[in-house]
Amino acid sequence: MKETWNKIFDYKTDGNLIVLSTYKELEKEDNKNRISFRYYRYVSIILWLIIFSLIALVVLKKQSPLIDIVYVDNGNNDINSDKVVSCYYNTPANDDVSQLLPSNINPHLCTHINVAFAQVKNKQIYLTELQIKTIADVLQIKNKNPNLKVLLSVGGAGNNEGFSDMVVNHIARKEFIKSIKYTLRNYSLDGIDLDWEFPALHQYSRDAGKRERQHFSQLLREIRMEYIREKKNYMLTVALAAPQIIVDVAYDVDQINLYVDYANIMTYDFHYYTQYTPFTGLNSPLYARNSEYFYMGTLNINYTIQMYLSKGLNESKIVVGIPTYGHSFTLVNEDNAGIGSPASGYGHVGSSGFVSYPEVCNFLKVNSNVSIVEEKNARVSYLHKQSEWISFDSPQSVTSKAEYIKKLKLRGAMIYALNSDDYKGLCGKILFSNVSYNFPLSASIRNIILT
Ligand SMILES: *[C@@H]1O[C@H](CO)[C@@H](O)[C@H](O)[C@H]1NC(C)=O
Ligand SMILES: *[C@@H]1O[C@H](CO)[C@@H](O)[C@H](O)[C@H]1NC(C)=O
Ligand SMILES: *[C@@H]1O[C@H](CO)[C@@H](O)[C@H](O)[C@H]1NC(C)=O
Ligand SMILES: *[C@@H]1O[C@H](CO)[C@@H](O)[C@H](O)[C@H]1NC(C)=O
Ligand SMILES: *[C@@H]1O[C@H](CO)[C@@H](O)[C@H](O)[C@H]1NC(C)=O
Repeated sequence: MKETWNKIFDYKTDGNLIVLSTYKELEKEDNKNRISFRYYRYVSIILWLIIFSLIALVVLKKQSPLIDIVYVDNGNNDINSDKVVSCYYNTPANDDVSQLLPSNINPHLCTHINVAFAQVKNKQIYLTELQIKTIADVLQIKNKNPNLKVLLSVGGAGNNEGFSDMVVNHIARKEFIKSIKYTLRNYSLDGIDLDWEFPALHQYSRDAGKRERQHFSQLLREIRMEYIREKKNYMLTVALAAPQIIVDVAYDVDQINLYVDYANIMTYDFHYYTQYTPFTGLNSPLYARNSEYFYMGTLNINYTIQMYLSKGLNESKIVVGIPTYGHSFTLVNEDNAGIGSPASGYGHVGSSGFVSYPEVCNFLKVNSNVSIVEEKNARVSYLHKQSEWISFDSPQSVTSKAEYIKKLKLRGAMIYALNSDDYKGLCGKILFSNVSYNFPLSASIRNIILT
C-alpha cells in the first residue's frame, strides 16, 4: 500500500494505468534541482561579494583623499554664484553720535557686513559689551535686507596676540572652534572672518612661530569640518595680506582655497609713511606705474591678484580689498611733490596718516588751489597743497577697481571700511536706479559689482 501511495500515476489516452515514477525518484530529481539551485545561489552570493568588494575598493580609493581634503561647495549655490560686496564695519569707539552708527548703514550697500574686530583671548573669542551691542544693532539691518549676511571679524592689525597660543595644537584649536560655534549661535551671526595679521610673521624667535602657517591651514580645515559635521551653513572667510613677501611666509594658499567661502585680500597700505619708508606713495594702486620695476613693481592690486591666482586661489574665492581711506604725508620740499618724494612724517590731515574720504572732500572744500593728480597707470589720485600730500581713492578710482574685478570674473569687492566712507553725504551723493546713496565710494563699487 505504501508502495502504491508512493506511486504517481497517469493514464494513457487508451485508459491503461502506467507508473510514471516513484515518489523517491521524483524526490531525487527534486533534490538534484535543489542542489543545483543552492549551487547557483552560492555562486551568485560569491559573485555579488566579489562585485561588492570591487565597488567598495573603487569607492574607498576614490574617497581616501577625503580624509585629507574636504571639498567645499559652500552648501548654498545661491551664495556660490552670487557676487560679494563685503564691507568691514568697525565698532564705534564710544557713543559719539557723529560716528557711523549701524542704523545709518544703507541696507543694500553690501552683501556681507563684517563687524570688526573681536579678539582671541585664552583660546576663545572675546567680545566687549560695546561689540555685543554693535552686533545686535548691525543684525537689525537684516530686517530691511533679509539677504544680508553678518559676520564677526576676529583679529585685525595689532590685534593678534591670542592667535599663536590658539593654533598651536589640536586641543587649543578645538577650544577656539567651540567658542566660534557658541558665538555664532548665541549672537545669531552668519559666520566668522579670521583676520590674523599674520601667521608665522610676528614672533620669529618662537619655535611654534615657524609652524604657524601649517597650523593656520589646519585651523581652517577643522572649522570647515565642524561646520559640515554640524550641518550648518555658517560662513568662513579670511582676510589675507597683499605683499608677496608676507604671503610666501604666512599662507598655504592652496589649502586656504579649499576651506574658505572666500578670501578678502587686503590690497591697500602698499605705501604709507614710516621712518623706514619716508617717501610719498600710493595707498592702493591698481597697476604698477611705468617707472616701477622689481620689488616696487609688485606693490599694486594687479600683481597681488595675479600672484594669488598663480598660487591656486580660485577666482571665485578672490574678493579684492578697496580702501575708503587714504594716507597723508608731510613733504620735505613742497616743490618736490611727485610720487616717491621725500616726506618728513604723516600729513596734518587725518590721524596717524589715515585720512577718511570725507576728510579729503573737506580739504578740497576749505582750500583753494589744491593740485589733484591722477596717476594714469596706477588709476588712483593724489593731491597736494604746500607740504600736505594725500593719496586717496575717489569714485573714479574705485570704479576702475570694480571694473577690473568684473573683467577678471573675481568673486567681488571688499570695502575697508564703511566708517571712513562719506556716510553723511558731505562729498555729494551717488544716484543709482533713482536711489540716492551716501557712501559715494562704497555705492560706486556696489553698483558695478552687483549689476
Ligand atoms: C549670549 O548672548 C546674549 C545676547 O544675545 C548675551 O546677553 C549673553 O551674555 C550671551 N551669553 C554669553 C554666555 O556670553
Ligand atoms: C597685471 O599683472 C600681470 C601678471 O603680473 C601682467 O602680466 C600684466 O601686464 C599686468 N597688467 C598691467 C596692466 O600692468
Ligand atoms: C574655480 O571654482 C569654480 C566654481 O566653484 C569651478 O567651477 C572651477 O572649476 C574652479 N577652477 C579651478 C581651476 O579649480
Ligand atoms: C596755485 O598753485 C600754483 C602751483 O601750484 C601756483 O603757481 C599759483 O600761484 C597758485 N595760485 C594761488 C592763487 O595760490
Ligand atoms: C525718480 O525719483 C523722483 C523723486 O524721488 C520721481 O519724481 C521720479 O519719477 C523718479 N524717476 C523714475 C524714472 O523712477
